Amino acid sequence: MKSRKILITSALPYANANIHLGHMFEHIQTDIWARFQRLRGHECYYVCADDAHGTPIMLSAQKNGITPQQLIDRVYQEHTRDFAGFNISYDNYYTTHSDENREFSEYIYLAARNNGHIDKRTIRQAYDEQAQMFLPDRFIKGECPRCGAPDQYGDNCEVCGATYAPTDLKNAVSVVSGTKPIEKETEHYFFKLGNFEAFLRDFLQSGAVQKEIANKQMEWFESDQGLSDWDVSRDAPYWGFKIPDTEDKYFYVWLDAPIGYLASFKNYCTRSGLNFDEFWKVGSEAEVYHFIGKDIAYFHTLFWPALLKSANFRTPTAVFCHGFVTVNGAKMSKSRGTFIQAESYLRHLNPEYLRYYFASKLGNSVDDIDLNLDDFQQRVNSDLVGKVVNIASRCAGFINKRFDNRLTATLPNPALYQEFAAASESIAEAFEQRRYSQAIREIMALADKANQYVDEQKPWALAKDETKLAEVQAICTQGLNLYRAIITYLKPVLPQLAAESEAFLNAGALRWASVQEPLLGTSINTFKPLMTRVEQAAVDAMIEDNKQALAAAQASPVTQSKHLTDDPISAPIQYEDFAKLDFRVAKIVKAAAVEGADKLVQLTLDLGGETRNVFAGIKSAYHPADLEGRLTVMVANLAPRKMRFGVSEGMVLAAGPGGKDIFVLTPDAGAEPGMRVK
Ligand code: 2FM
Ligand code: ZN
Repeated sequence: MKSRKILITSALPYANANIHLGHMFEHIQTDIWARFQRLRGHECYYVCADDAHGTPIMLSAQKNGITPQQLIDRVYQEHTRDFAGFNISYDNYYTTHSDENREFSEYIYLAARNNGHIDKRTIRQAYDEQAQMFLPDRFIKGECPRCGAPDQYGDNCEVCGATYAPTDLKNAVSVVSGTKPIEKETEHYFFKLGNFEAFLRDFLQSGAVQKEIANKQMEWFESDQGLSDWDVSRDAPYWGFKIPDTEDKYFYVWLDAPIGYLASFKNYCTRSGLNFDEFWKVGSEAEVYHFIGKDIAYFHTLFWPALLKSANFRTPTAVFCHGFVTVNGAKMSKSRGTFIQAESYLRHLNPEYLRYYFASKLGNSVDDIDLNLDDFQQRVNSDLVGKVVNIASRCAGFINKRFDNRLTATLPNPALYQEFAAASESIAEAFEQRRYSQAIREIMALADKANQYVDEQKPWALAKDETKLAEVQAICTQGLNLYRAIITYLKPVLPQLAAESEAFLNAGALRWASVQEPLLGTSINTFKPLMTRVEQAAVDAMIEDNKQALAAAQASPVTQSKHLTDDPISAPIQYEDFAKLDFRVAKIVKAAAVEGADKLVQLTLDLGGETRNVFAGIKSAYHPADLEGRLTVMVANLAPRKMRFGVSEGMVLAAGPGGKDIFVLTPDAGAEPGMRVK
């Protein structure tokens, strides 16, 4: 088999959020692939880095009274600790705030500019006069220009799904200072993505991108405005790299983030003597793969290949997109404690459990996968503890105690062993195609066969008869060789179990090809239990611990999640403002879906004699019919607001992270429509 040169990356985590199981889903699947390629004997490198620039990081540092450098240094320690805890085998984990990244970013930008792909023009953008900064869309809130929903971000409405410019928001406020932003002119730099249309069409259709993603990206070409120019500059103050030949313009974080892949690899090449150009020059025979979430496919399958092309670098061999992780069938939730931080998991559970569980569910599509904690426990216990490790523990004791650790020189059932060796290519193909769940199914079928063999041969019964001891030794040698084959196939998924098994088998590191020759006539080491069961108490303790970690993180913005950091608490209001709100018990007499609005439900509310029409953005959580007859709490003195679908006369109170988890407030028992709520 010809050895391949392969470079693999995972998306670069932001340097202001903790690593959680969503990140781990990606880094574990990338790591499995990297380990698999190395095990097959290929020259394979896996690099990553922290994504260390941008406004949220700058503001987060400010809030904590530290410099952005101090913040990203601290987070770097936490991220590398968590990834090491899950045995992620990066060849380099770097940062985008590096000399290499600055050099590549400048180089690529200047090449794009020299080749006519950069435009400069004046735009109008929201500006916070108090904070003296231009405001990114996510740092402005106001009322949706389409449906009138309050408290919406500057880019899209979470209630009716409208997308718009932040300047379209009504009654907008800056979330940095709470003041009303003004509009101000500023000069920005644009990458002319449209210049790459033909190239991108070819790239998307070349098989480098999964079909479902490619088709989605192709829709951009057909849209009215075609491929839009990409704004790659930001005004000072900004935490990032200054754009060459400007005084106060910085590269937008999404420009230098993917360039961080090059920079991390370059840094590795410098330290290890590897030739960077062999991987990145046009026409290179090396393969380059990016593993990413489907939410950032736009950046990786349009901007990134076009940027590389504009500066005459090779483009990726493929971009592998994956879906999201849900926990117990729902979006990860902070209130339920299922927004699971890597650190919380590692405090209570073996990382190999999760590596195995993810692998057992992963295919190569962009479908979301669910971490069902009961299924997780059951599957790990049944497959790994009950089947795989069990084979070794049933055979090793005899070899250790009765045969002075010696394996026999021949196998009693070479045909059975051959079956295990012959599975090698089919399992390898499943891993290669990222159909991990199929690989696991095939490996578990072998584990069933191995257990069945030991069950049928009953070495424990034979061992009672002194004349059958040679047979016992041979059966156990066979069993351990079947175990060895299984562990070799599982080695990309379970590096820790594989390392402990290698130590026990005492014959060096397993390679993919090792399976072709059984281990015979050698001495093994003393068997020690290899894996314990997942206990319910440990899962429960992990969730509880995680809830507390999340609460602590909320109190300290440095370690809070990306979403909270993007959603700072609004400016304070006075008590008198609060006291103006008139909360009343309302009975939902009618609830109906609103045509043309994904998220709205139209409610008819009885206030004890008065009826109100209210639109509420709760459709993702409630079937309208289930709401009818229920009591809720509403703000009864909110001035009527004209929305696209009609006039809304008040607002019902609800809480929750969103999606299925929105809970309309329910008053105490005994409440009557119209009653004041205090
Ligand atoms: O979405 C994110 O978390 C980004 N930090 C991913 C960047 S990937 C690459 F482009 F750097
Ligand atoms: Zn709206």
